[in-house]
Amino acid sequence: MRLRALDITSYRDYIRYLDQNPSEYDILKRVLPINVTEWFRNPETFQYLKDEIIPAIIKGKEEGPKRTVRVWSAGCSDGKEPYTLAMLFHEVLGGDVGRYRVDILATDIDEEELEKGRRGVYKENEMKGVDMKRRARFFTYKDGRYTVKPELRAMVRFKRHDLLKGPKYSSMDLVLCRNVVIYFTKELKERLYLEFFESLAPGGYLVLGKTETLMGDARNILALVNNRERVFQRPRE
Ligand SMILES: C[S@@+](CC[C@H](N)C(=O)[O-])C[C@H]1O[C@@H](n2cnc3c(N)ncnc32)[C@H](O)[C@@H]1O
Repeated sequence: MRLRALDITSYRDYIRYLDQNPSEYDILKRVLPINVTEWFRNPETFQYLKDEIIPAIIKGKEEGPKRTVRVWSAGCSDGKEPYTLAMLFHEVLGGDVGRYRVDILATDIDEEELEKGRRGVYKENEMKGVDMKRRARFFTYKDGRYTVKPELRAMVRFKRHDLLKGPKYSSMDLVLCRNVVIYFTKELKERLYLEFFESLAPGGYLVLGKTETLMGDARNILALVNNRERVFQRPRE
């Protein structure tokens, strides 16, 4: 569609055009569902994280000296995924929340989306997936807009990061990378999955999108925990 509009005949030329015209990226974003996200996207995955994975991570911290939980939402779009995780940590920890530091790193390549996440303000029609109980507990409502409460905001750090070129992270207890790699080549996916392995603490979990699967060498070093919910684990050493 954009190629036709610009009278460009090959993808290679279009990529060159994209490189030379940063404003084209904004136009492309409007015509492709690049940033589409939802609260509790694939609710059954988040229910599984709430019932099994988050309690297991917390249990692991009780036994160790450190009470910091490190989570990475890679390709977080406008913040719905990392804030969903923050809600779940609040719900699982309940009254014990003050005894832990839950540090959710939310990264994306798109500064505009990150800025929206930092503001933490969502219109009524963007709140699908958050039930009334959660809206009342975790948001303030005014003039048709929901703002995340400081207790949720405090758990999430937004940072610009390109998964293909950015610095590497480590010691994560939980990494989510869902619905991000659709436009990546097989080689890039294979490299990225190995990097996710490296980013995990021993025993840490990786969650992929519902339609995605591990490929390349990462398949041999990450253990499958739940195939339906696309959850994998770095074995403890
Ligand atoms: C479809 S959204 C998915 C959001 C969320 N993870 C979810 O599942 O609802 C994909 C996001 O990945 C981001 N993205 C694409 N390529 C990226 C890259 N190389 N590095 C970091 N983020 C990237 C896009 O900007 C977009 O916000």
